[in-house]
Amino acid sequence: MASGTEGVLARVEREGGSHLDELKDFLRIPSISTDPQYKGDVLRAAGWLRERMADAGLSAELIETAGNPLVYGEWTGAPGKPTVLIYGHYDVQPADPLEEWRHPPFEPAIERDPEKGDRLVARGATDDKGQSYAHVKAVAATLAERGELPVNVKFIVEGEEESGGAAIDRFVREDAGDRLGCDCVVVSDSSMFKRGQPSLIYGLKGLVYVEVKVHGPNRDLHSGSFGGAVANPANALAHVLASLRDPATGRVLIPGFYDKVRPLEEWERKEFAGLPFDEEAYRSDLGVEALAGEHGYTTRERAWARPTCDVNGIWGGYMGEGAKTIIPARAGAKVSMRLVPDQDPREIGELFAEHVRSVAPPGVRVEVADIHGASPVLIDAQGPIVEAALDALEAEWGKRPVRVREGGTIPIVGTFVEVLKVPVLLIGFGLEDDRLHSPNEKIDLACFHGGVRSSVRLLDRLAEAGKGTQ
Ligand code: BES
Ligand code: MN
Ligand code: MN
Repeated sequence: MASGTEGVLARVEREGGSHLDELKDFLRIPSISTDPQYKGDVLRAAGWLRERMADAGLSAELIETAGNPLVYGEWTGAPGKPTVLIYGHYDVQPADPLEEWRHPPFEPAIERDPEKGDRLVARGATDDKGQSYAHVKAVAATLAERGELPVNVKFIVEGEEESGGAAIDRFVREDAGDRLGCDCVVVSDSSMFKRGQPSLIYGLKGLVYVEVKVHGPNRDLHSGSFGGAVANPANALAHVLASLRDPATGRVLIPGFYDKVRPLEEWERKEFAGLPFDEEAYRSDLGVEALAGEHGYTTRERAWARPTCDVNGIWGGYMGEGAKTIIPARAGAKVSMRLVPDQDPREIGELFAEHVRSVAPPGVRVEVADIHGASPVLIDAQGPIVEAALDALEAEWGKRPVRVREGGTIPIVGTFVEVLKVPVLLIGFGLEDDRLHSPNEKIDLACFHGGVRSSVRLLDRLAEAGKGTQ
């Protein structure tokens, strides 16, 4: 172990209470990026984080963008040592449905659980304030204890990951110059495989998110007087949506959808199958009768490595109490497609629109609007930097990390891979039962504090892995 790691870890132990108090302050700011009403809070969260980075000993600033500001912080006092770029997001998802929360979502509360361990409940606790703040505290504790860091560190924390990440994408591609030059990127915005079992994610899905609107008559019509004579936009929408998937095989029916899908490799199928997974517990926890998906693939393979197409929301016509006999003037749906390498979000978006136009019945006008997209990623998880990360996590959690893929999307990761051309280490400290995006989101205290310690160890190990060795 590099000299001094123990001293820093002891400090982290002593200061754990204040780390948690600061995280609670962060969580009290409702920085919801998808709702313009919260713009002031988003800006407040950015300012708060910049100050904490400055307190930690980083040179920190807000980088203005066309959207929400980026919080940037750096310490570059280790010439000749590797540079580590740490990414996170300070924005959060909306908190609704509010009535399902046990405590108000922006009043962080500690809940005791003698079995699973204590947890902190609040929107953003795990996604991604708790996880990204763990790295800030690791850097703060290391600088306080040693007066220096073992590597150069840059932080880039964005404020619109949950709404597509357009601003950081533009910054990384066009405006950053060599400011983000680094030897590796670290992202903690995901989960460990299980409690106490760390993981390294080497694949994330991409995303195409679209809205379909079907326009019919210029007003709602009496469904007796006009029914049968005018196309019904809600019926037309149902027809369009039903044409997206084959219920018998679970396959997506958009022509060309699978053309560029890279098949799962044999070693991955073996490795996934070898990971402990209680399918029955998974099913019953979700409260469904049976699991379902594309034929020929296991649950893990479906969720981690096969592309999907899902309706996320659907509206149209009369939705109040009782009956109202109308043919609605319009109907609509939000649809997302999760992509795997080498599907291209732009191409898939076009295939979707073409397909929808080709199946739309006559008498209605169908509009397809893109909301956002992101590229899928597969990372070649090998080499000294990856080994250093695996060693650091093993030292902290007592188990060698497992290699897994993940169905979620972090839009900027594909851009990091493409533009920065360095290894991206996807190491999450959350857990599968953290309820991200749901009511009662939480982070286990053991995950937050373990995340701080993991980060301390990681920086030390990365220094040993050397510079430019990848
Ligand atoms: N942190 C998540 C992504 C994630 C979830 C990674 C679970 C690993 C495990 C991220 O904040 C997120 O929610 N991303 C969105 C994408 C975005 C464009 C709205 C997603 O995946 O839906
Ligand atoms: Mn996230
Ligand atoms: Mn999220």
